[in-house]
Amino acid sequence: MWDSFLFIGLPYITVALFFGVTIYRGFSGMMSGHRGKWNWTARGDYLWTTRSTGFFGRASIGAASLCLHWGILILLIAHLIGLIGGAYNLVSWVNFFRWAGLGGGVLFLYGAVWALARRVIVPQLKAMSTPDDYIILLFLIVIDGLGLYQAAVKLVFGISYSAGPWLGSIIKLQPEITAIAGAPFINKLHIIVSLLFLAYFPFTKLVHVFSYPFGYSTRSFVSMRRYVGLKK
Ligand code: HEM
Repeated sequence: MWDSFLFIGLPYITVALFFGVTIYRGFSGMMSGHRGKWNWTARGDYLWTTRSTGFFGRASIGAASLCLHWGILILLIAHLIGLIGGAYNLVSWVNFFRWAGLGGGVLFLYGAVWALARRVIVPQLKAMSTPDDYIILLFLIVIDGLGLYQAAVKLVFGISYSAGPWLGSIIKLQPEITAIAGAPFINKLHIIVSLLFLAYFPFTKLVHVFSYPFGYSTRSFVSMRRYVGLKK
């Protein structure tokens, strides 16, 4: 019963929120002057920005920002290759996930822990941080920590052979959870927290990953104000 909800219901709820809210936010101008109206040129809202922290304590970012971004990119590619490999029984693809995932996971952990520490240590950063800045980093550190704990401490590997077919069945709209239901608890938790994180994703500044800097040099200034601020 719980497995059915967590590995059938939750993935579909996550997909609906991830794409639905992103598209709604992108084109209705939610939280902006276009609020509530569909407008194909709305291009997001006033919070569709990373709220760059580079102005404050720039020297303290150092390699951490690079590690965070390269780490998550390597993890994304490694997961894709590993889960496809798991679905089609491709041993070398799953093995690639093991080592690339380990490297990307360690890089990402360093970057994310340091990003969180800066928000607590640097007073200006603390003042400009909003709850989602902390929640995102905590989510990612927990997810990464669970993945690394299982791979590097418990030395359990090869769960892609269960997770790959499950993910494939979800995509094909023919959910089949027998394999994933038998996976180790830590890995199931890793996937469940990841799904919760992806459901939360479109409500945060992370939507900036869908921005392409094509109009960067010609665009007008971005006004960074909250909708509540506009009403005053
Ligand atoms: C819904 C999204 C996700 C799914 C389905 C997923 C699935 C998995 C699976 C099945 C494994 C075990 C691989 C195996 O034993 O063959 C794994 C490992 C791992 N995951 Fe994820 N994951 C997700 C999101 C994430 C995210 C967002 C992060 C990073 C913040 C992450 C970081 C890791 C790390 C570091 C490992 C260990 C890699 C290694 O074994 O060397 N995962 N993941």
